Amino acid sequence: MADLKWWQKAVFYQIYPQSFADANGDGIGDLKGAIDKLDYLRDLGIDAIWMSPNYPSPMVDCGYDISDYTAVAPEYGTLDDFKLFLDGAHQRGIRVILDLVLNHTSDQHAWFQESRSSRDNPKKDWYIWRDPVNGGPPNNWLSTFGGPAWEYETKRGQYYYHFFFREQPDLNWRNPAVRQAMFDAVRFWYHLGVDGFRIDAIGTVFEREDMPDHTGTLTPEALFYNGRFGKQEYPPEVIEKEWKATFGYQVDQPEMIDLLRELRKVNDEYADRMLIGESEKIEYCADDMLHMVFNFNLMRTERLTPKWVRQNQGERLSGLSALACPEPGAWPCNTLGNHDSPRVKNRFGDGEHDEELARLHLALILTLKGTPFLYNGEEIGMTDLILDDIRKFRDTLGVWYYQLCRSGIGLPEEASLDIAAHNTRDKNRTPLQWKNAAHAGFCPDDVEPWLPVNPNYKVGINVEQQERVSSSLLSYYRKLILLRKANPALIEGDYLPIHEEAIDYLAFLRKSAKQTCLVVLNMSGGSFLLDFTSPATSQQVPKHGELLFSSRERPSGTIDLTQAAVAPFEVLIVKL
Ligand code: GLC
Ligand code: CA
Repeated sequence: MADLKWWQKAVFYQIYPQSFADANGDGIGDLKGAIDKLDYLRDLGIDAIWMSPNYPSPMVDCGYDISDYTAVAPEYGTLDDFKLFLDGAHQRGIRVILDLVLNHTSDQHAWFQESRSSRDNPKKDWYIWRDPVNGGPPNNWLSTFGGPAWEYETKRGQYYYHFFFREQPDLNWRNPAVRQAMFDAVRFWYHLGVDGFRIDAIGTVFEREDMPDHTGTLTPEALFYNGRFGKQEYPPEVIEKEWKATFGYQVDQPEMIDLLRELRKVNDEYADRMLIGESEKIEYCADDMLHMVFNFNLMRTERLTPKWVRQNQGERLSGLSALACPEPGAWPCNTLGNHDSPRVKNRFGDGEHDEELARLHLALILTLKGTPFLYNGEEIGMTDLILDDIRKFRDTLGVWYYQLCRSGIGLPEEASLDIAAHNTRDKNRTPLQWKNAAHAGFCPDDVEPWLPVNPNYKVGINVEQQERVSSSLLSYYRKLILLRKANPALIEGDYLPIHEEAIDYLAFLRKSAKQTCLVVLNMSGGSFLLDFTSPATSQQVPKHGELLFSSRERPSGTIDLTQAAVAPFEVLIVKL
């Protein structure tokens, strides 16, 4: 594996700082808390941490509204705490990447305060300002977080543009001074020893400069109600078309390519740093752009069926290998969840076999070709918490969903709350469940955590109890992550599908010069007697292999591949 980079071999773990661990007992996660859990992360076996924004922020968008790019949020601690965290991680062989929000700052950022103060100040062109047209906004563009994309500023007699909340004004990336300022922030963290960045919301950084009116025909209420909550008042194709017609001018502009090239140059001023984009567009992966983008397409389904995964991998891997990247080629990156999406058990479970499916899904992410990204709490099987009171919501987007349903669509209170609670990102951002104690041991008994704790910590969904049980999900995570590390084929091997017609199970080889592994994921409740050496495959599979791992009881040692019995929902990994 000598020629792979650290980020190609690593298992990443996303920390959502507000909810990870609270050391100073104020109900909010912090850096000291995260430091205390570094041994836990080392024992879990992960190699790198992606930390969601840790910068000062008014928290209108839970940290994605940054008011200072070169400091630490006081709720989380100090810069010295951060250095201790970084050193502590490095000492344990764990790298740390941060979140880089390019598109917008907080409206409380000093840059914006200055920019909004007059039409004539040194930062007057740092954001996207336009004159009113006929006494109103410059065009009919919308914010993806609700309402118009324009906000009036009396001090300038002008409107500023925001793709997200009005408290998140878009930076003007066509201004070289903005680039320099943000690149200096990148250098600041790289100088401290940070190992890379996850680049937020890549698609939204540029919008069309001539800003023509969008040509969508649905009302914003109808568009959001159908587009966000999967309501079927219109066929999905219509909604998709309308979505593009409404937002097309505001996203995915070609200038992003040049910006990423500049960012990569800054990145490469430092040794061994890595950039991953919040985008599924593989064209951003290049030797002079990003190292990786996420395979979000894999997640865009209700059920992860063998057929879905095969098709996704086929398209993804052939797309990546067609890119002009030096050996070993553009590198895949797979994930099933993050702070913006439902918990894996809720998203991809069937309500009946969620535990079995959670194990299959982890095995999938750890055995497919590419760098896996895991989200904190998944390792103990945390699930979505559906809030029962709008006053408990902390995600401004969730509150807007509620208002959209209530006043925009005119739904009753109960229905509005139900839709908002199922779609707010609060549900998957609740505090980490450390033990079976008040607030799951996240914070002291007499303190209210910033977001309610999911009460299912009482029924075994907590770290302390799962650490003691060898059959727990947490133990399973540890075993599989260790297994991946010990078997080079699972990291560097090619992905070669076999039995491609199978509806119930996914089977593939991971094959490198040093080793070949067979992976079988039975995604059904049926059991089968399978012949992996049969001609149903163009790959040669030997008659016998050595059992590396099974999620079921199995005798260790040799396994007959001409008639292998595969149990319901079994994860089977065999060395050939
Ligand atoms: C990204 C973040 C999300 C945030 C948005 C705006 O999509 O993941 O949490 O709300 O960008 O910054
Ligand atoms: Ca705290």
